[in-house]
Amino acid sequence: MNLLVVGGGGREHAIIKKLKENPGVETIYALPGNGGIAQDAVCVPEIGAKDIPAIVDFAKSHAIDFAVVAPDDPLALGCVDRLHEAGIPCFGPDAKAARIEASKVFSKNLMKKYGIPTASYEVFNDPKTALEYLKSASFPIVIKADGLALGKGVLIPQNLAEAEAAVKTIMEDKAFGDSGNEIVIEEFLTGPEVSVLAFTDGTAIRPMMSSMDHKRAGDNDTGLNTGGMGTVAPNPYYTADVAKVCMDTIFLPTLAAMRAEGCPFKGCLYFGLMITPNGPKVIEYNCRFGDPETQVVLPLLKTDLLTVMQAVENETLANLEVEWSDGAAACVILASGGYPSHYEKGKVMSFPASTPANVTIYHAGDKLADGKLVTIGGRVLGITATAPTLQAALADAYAAAEAVDFEGKYMRHDIGRRALAAMEEQ
Ligand code: AMP
Ligand code: GLY
Repeated sequence: MNLLVVGGGGREHAIIKKLKENPGVETIYALPGNGGIAQDAVCVPEIGAKDIPAIVDFAKSHAIDFAVVAPDDPLALGCVDRLHEAGIPCFGPDAKAARIEASKVFSKNLMKKYGIPTASYEVFNDPKTALEYLKSASFPIVIKADGLALGKGVLIPQNLAEAEAAVKTIMEDKAFGDSGNEIVIEEFLTGPEVSVLAFTDGTAIRPMMSSMDHKRAGDNDTGLNTGGMGTVAPNPYYTADVAKVCMDTIFLPTLAAMRAEGCPFKGCLYFGLMITPNGPKVIEYNCRFGDPETQVVLPLLKTDLLTVMQAVENETLANLEVEWSDGAAACVILASGGYPSHYEKGKVMSFPASTPANVTIYHAGDKLADGKLVTIGGRVLGITATAPTLQAALADAYAAAEAVDFEGKYMRHDIGRRALAAMEEQ
């Protein structure tokens, strides 16, 4: 079989490595892919992940048997719709279902209409009414741009002055472009966060192993928000009891709501949850695999990934058991110094001659230049280790992260610390 994966980050590298385990797979094309992914797939750097017509043409001319569309932008732009029109089976939601991530107004209204637990909220489409509302609000409060904003469209002002500045940034200065034409202002929730990615064919659901992201740039959750500086799986806050509540009050009701709205969700649905004192609530939905959650979750998947994805596409997931390893995984992101603000590119990377069998290096932001791998992104590599315990996985991931080098290499040193502390308390 010939496969096509749209995207070019660490998440896509993890998907590709897992797909390769299927013996029926001949060639995997990555559009655009990256320098490191080129070790595992045929990369096509000329075709960007948002160039839908070029992606469809490529799929038709390269006898693609199955396509995986991984990033949010092409999903929201209808990449899956166009591939299906061209007769190509694929994994991922259509544009109507992708609104669950692409429009916060859509997802918040969905949750309200169908009684799915989430922060209470109001929607505003002009700054004047928003500012008026904020005068009688309590702080901190959460302000979200409606549309996609590279994970940066959420601001948490601590007082009225900061809130006014946030509304101005999003709605008047258009810091996130048209994504800020509408905003959601919502209640500030507290509690540990859990990421649950789930395979679903619209009706059946197979939650993946839970995970914990580390979104802030600095140790002890300080500094700016990033795309994610590291992950661990499983997440100790996601107990069997919590999982049952989530299935009954969040997961199944969300799938039913999407069906009732005429846009059943097929693909990977990402539930960003907060375990509040009043129970689990939805912080956000994503219409795709998380990054870097995927880099810890997929290495623990025992069932063949392509088989699961085909069952989603064929709507036969109810007949498939999806199995997970008993162990744990940890991923440490190596970033370019300065990320998520300004950082330098073009740094040559050096790697150890060999890595232990339980360690995988996922490439997120690099390219091949004169036969050498050089940095081109903020998040450059994800170093994942799997092991019987989280302690062992973290030790091995950090040892491998120390062994890779490039000028300005930056990482957090406390990935998994909160998870280990939570496990000791339990
Ligand atoms: P998002 O981009 O929606 O994942 O939001 C980024 C981060 O902002 C989340 O991971 C949370 O830590 C935080 N956040 C979002 N919504 C809320 C909320 N209602 N209450 C508290 N924190 C929130
Ligand atoms: N790691 C968070 C996300 O993928 O949105």
